Amino acid sequence: MSGDILVETIDGVLCLTFNRPEKKNALNRDMYRALIAALAVANHDDAIRAVVFAGAGDDFTAGNDLADFRDVIDNIEAFPALHFVRAVAVFEKPMIAAVKGDAVGVGATLLFHCDLVYAAPDARLRMPFIDLGLVPEAGVSLLAPHRLGIARAAQYLLLGEAFSGEDAFRFGLANALAPASQVIERARDAAQRLAAKPAQALRDSRRLLRGDPAALRAQIDAEAQLFARALESPETRARLAAFFSRA
Ligand code: COA
Repeated sequence: MSGDILVETIDGVLCLTFNRPEKKNALNRDMYRALIAALAVANHDDAIRAVVFAGAGDDFTAGNDLADFRDVIDNIEAFPALHFVRAVAVFEKPMIAAVKGDAVGVGATLLFHCDLVYAAPDARLRMPFIDLGLVPEAGVSLLAPHRLGIARAAQYLLLGEAFSGEDAFRFGLANALAPASQVIERARDAAQRLAAKPAQALRDSRRLLRGDPAALRAQIDAEAQLFARALESPETRARLAAFFSRA
């Protein structure tokens, strides 16, 4: 397990903490691998009833480590971020997110897969793919219009505007608001309550709420093809270089 992902099981709840606060918990390849491994175990371990995603320090996560985008990706299938997203999309147990500070890129798209989201009112959420010359990922091009409506999906995925935790609560992406210092506790409390429910009924209820995942899986794959192509574009390479050459 990567030390940058803390893995802790408390009373049937698997708590996965992005633990790289000096880089705003940006997720690198080893971190994705650790997350994938933890989710794979959790899916098959009857003792684990729910998962909580949280960030150490002040932030949830600033998304994919942009340094990893600078490497040439010959084969998108070799990119652990894609496997993480696929694993989340078909994960069989409730997922709860505790969001504070920056939640950028996959830090925002992950929330569309979670069953429950608790957010600090001043959390800063953003899906800035467009401004990097990239396309949406994690199936959010399907999930966001469905969840937020087409107008807001365009605002956040085409204009790339930021929105707050309070906004997320207002339009139904977050279930409740809590001060940043309490948001993890709130998420863990909800997870404990879910963990105490009858397991099979919970699993079946989730399946009914989510429906057939085939379209979501296909959208994730379609996005990944376009994302990989976009990563090689001169425009994206210039924007990534600009991020790392900031004064
Ligand atoms: N990948 C790699 N490093 C990242 C990162 C990311 N996604 N996000 C932040 N960092 C690093 C910064 O390079 C900086 O490192 P340094 O101290 O060694 O220079 C450190 O984390 C702190 O970030 P900084 O940018 O100084 O903080 P800020 O408060 O000024 O800005 C953000 C916060 C989130 C707005 C800004 O870091 C950002 O835009 N990050 C990129 C987000 C992104 O595009 N994610 C991927 C989307 S696909």
